[in-house]
Amino acid sequence: MTLNIVIMAAGKGTRMKSALPKVLHRLAHQSLLHHVLDTALALKADRIITVTGHGAEVVEAAVRVSAPQVRFTRQMPQLGTGHAVQQAVPELDEDASTQDASKNGASKEDAPKENVTLILNGDTPLIRAATAQALIEACGGSRLALLTIVMGSEADAAGLGRIVRNDVGIQSIVEHKDASVAQRAICETYTGVMAVPTAHLKKWLGQLKNDNAQSEYYLTDIVAMAVADGVTVVAAHPGSDTEVLGVNSPLQLADLERRYQRNRAVALMEAGVRLADPARFDVRGHLDCGVDVEIDVNCIFEGCVTLGDNVRVGPNCCIKNATIGAGTVISAFTHIDGEKLGVKVGAQVRIGPFARLRPGTDLGDEVHIGNFVEVKNSTLDKGAKANHLAYLGDATVGERVNFGAGSITANYDGVNKHRTVIGADVHVGSNCVLVAPVSLGAGATIGGGSTVTKDAPAAALTVARGKQVTLSGWTRPVKKSAPP
Ligand code: UD1
Ligand code: CA
Repeated sequence: MTLNIVIMAAGKGTRMKSALPKVLHRLAHQSLLHHVLDTALALKADRIITVTGHGAEVVEAAVRVSAPQVRFTRQMPQLGTGHAVQQAVPELDEDASTQDASKNGASKEDAPKENVTLILNGDTPLIRAATAQALIEACGGSRLALLTIVMGSEADAAGLGRIVRNDVGIQSIVEHKDASVAQRAICETYTGVMAVPTAHLKKWLGQLKNDNAQSEYYLTDIVAMAVADGVTVVAAHPGSDTEVLGVNSPLQLADLERRYQRNRAVALMEAGVRLADPARFDVRGHLDCGVDVEIDVNCIFEGCVTLGDNVRVGPNCCIKNATIGAGTVISAFTHIDGEKLGVKVGAQVRIGPFARLRPGTDLGDEVHIGNFVEVKNSTLDKGAKANHLAYLGDATVGERVNFGAGSITANYDGVNKHRTVIGADVHVGSNCVLVAPVSLGAGATIGGGSTVTKDAPAAALTVARGKQVTLSGWTRPVKKSAPP
C-alpha cells in the first residue's frame, strides 16, 4: 500500500489574534503542526504533504528543521478545504506497486491499487496514530472512510458538517451553513479527517464546485460523489473527542492543553507515579519515572527527563533535560535546565530548596546542593556538598568536598572561561573567591574570605585575605554640636 498524508495548514486562524500562524502555536511546548506531523511520521507514510498558505514561509521553515522529508504545496488564496487538497494533487504518490509492476513488464491493470490518502488538519493536534491507522484500514484503498463523532446535542454540532445517512448508509456530508433544519438536527458530525483511495480522490477533486453558502470548494462534497460512483462510504470513530478537537482561539488552546496534560498525568499515575494533584502538573516532552516516584504540585517537566526509583520532587520545580538517580530528593522551587548538554544527578542526592542546576552539571551520589546554589558545567564527586549561596561554574570537585556559604568560582575573565579543580576532602570556607584557572590539592583547607589566585597545596591551610588588625587607642568620632 502507498500511503499519502495531506495536512491542511493554510488557514489564518483569525481568532487566535496573533501574528504567529495558528498551526505554530504550541501545545505542551510543541507546535500544533508538529503534533500532527509526529502522528503522520508514526504512520510511516510514503509521502507527507503539508498545504501552507498564511505565513507559509514561517510554517515551512519550522517544519524543515525537524521533519525535512515533509513536502509543501501552497494554497493562495484559500478557497476551502477541497481547494486545499487540490493543491496537493501533483505531490500525491501514484501506487508504488503499480510502478514496480509495470517496470517488471506486468500490465498496470494487474497491479494492486491499494493507495490511500489520509487527510489531517494542522490545527487538530491530538489525533492518535492508532485512530488514523484504523481509518486507513477502514478505507483499505477501496472505500471512503470518514472519521465522525456523535455530539451530545444539536447545539454541540453547530458549525460542523453533518453526516447524512439513509437506510443503505452514508449518503453525503452537508455543511452547517448549507444544512436544512432537519439536517441540522443530525448529531453525527464530520471531524475533518478522512482516508480516501488516491485515484478516486484525484478524480473527485476535479469535479468540485463552489455553489454553496460559503462559495468554497468543500472537500466534504466528495462523499456524495463516492456514493454516485458506487464507492462504499464508511465511518470510524476516535477513542475520545479530545483527539478531534481543533484549536481556533487561545481559550480552546488552553482547554486542549489541560486535556492533554490530564491524559499524561493519568498515564503516569496508572504506571504508579504519585502526583499530588494531576491538575497542577505539566509535561512538555518525555518523562520516564521509576517506581515510587512522588511529585508535588506545580512541577513542569520539559525535554527529556528521567526520574529514578523513589525520587521525590517538591512543589514548584522546573526540570528540563535531566536524569535524576534513585532516591534523590529535589526540594521546592528548584530549577534544573540541562539544555543541550544535559544535567546528570546521581543517587541519594539532595537538591534545593531554591537550587539551580545548569547545563553540564554532573552530580555524583550523595551530593548535597542547598538553597541559592548555582552549578554549571561542573562535576561533583560522591558526597560533595555546597549547601548555601554558592556558585560552581566549570569546576571539577572531588569526593566529600565542603564548599562554604557564599563561595564562588570566578570562572570567567571577561573573555575566556577557565576551570577550577578541587581535590577530594577539600574544605573551602565561607565567602571565598577561587579565581580560575586554579587547583586546590586534596585535603586542602581554604580560610574563609580568601581570594585564591594561585594553586593551593594539598593537606594545608591556605589563607588569602587582608590580615586582621586592631588599633588600640582609637576612638569613635563624636557628632559636632550644631552652631547656635
Ligand atoms: C471543516 C469541514 C466540516 C467539519 C469541520 C471539522 C469542510 C468543507 N468542512 O469545516 O465538515 O465538520 O472541518 O472541524 O471541509 N484550510 C485550508 N485551506 C482552506 C480552508 C481550510 O488549509 O482554504 C484548513 C484550515 O487551516 C484547517 C482545516 O483546513 O486546518 C479545516 O478548515 P476549517 O475552516 O477549520 O473547517 P471548516 O470549513 O469550518
Ligand atoms: Ca471554513
